[in-house]
Amino acid sequence: MNITYKTTKENINWEEVAAVLKRSHLSDHTAKEQKIVFENSYAVVFVYDGETIVGVARALSDGLFQAAIYNVALDEEYQGKGIGREMIGRLIAQLKGQNIILYTHPQTVLLYEKMGFRRAKTAMELFFAGEEELEWMEKTGFFLPENFRFCDEYNRPDMKGPAWKYPEAKRVFD
Ligand SMILES: CC(C)(COP(=O)(O)OP(=O)(O)OC[C@H]1O[C@@H](n2cnc3c(N)ncnc32)[C@H](O)[C@@H]1OP(=O)(O)O)[C@@H](O)C(=O)NCCC(=O)NCCS
Repeated sequence: MNITYKTTKENINWEEVAAVLKRSHLSDHTAKEQKIVFENSYAVVFVYDGETIVGVARALSDGLFQAAIYNVALDEEYQGKGIGREMIGRLIAQLKGQNIILYTHPQTVLLYEKMGFRRAKTAMELFFAGEEELEWMEKTGFFLPENFRFCDEYNRPDMKGPAWKYPEAKRVFD
């Protein structure tokens, strides 16, 4: 195993990037689509074993204040050896001084807590994924139940109005 990290976007084999993301079940997009999203990202990390990409991560950013991490994936045989932590660390290093948000798989919450992230009580998501993907996310535990309220929010007048429903919210943008 000869692990190296690359944080530039030149000479990337996008087929390998797409394959890593597919194997991790994080994204099924094509190599052409991965090239677009990674090239449009502010910060990237590619993990190589020799000449082959075995891990990827990227972040969007406004360049000064706010950033968001996406597509963190490492091939299974490389997991549990500190490589993921190093990869995420190198991504965060490129976002120095910026606030960082991310939503992760329900099974990797602890990992990010170990890296200093806090769970956000007011984080909101508006997903325009297909019905099948949304159903999978619902079942896998990505979302709090609809109109969820924390204990200290019950009976607060500002939390009592009718909540927007996804199809209505979507119509605003159609
Ligand atoms: C998430 C991922 C990149 C982590 O990489 P990794 O190399 O296995 O992680 P590391 O070995 O560097 O572990 C770092 C720390 O996080 C912990 N950790 C790793 N995976 C974890 C998980 N799934 N849940 C909880 N903790 C985890 C490790 O125990 C370690 O803690 P320690 O330093 O106290 O020992 C990798 O497991 C992966 O690609 N998983 C599949 C895709 C995925 O779920 N991505 C995240 C969604 S954004």
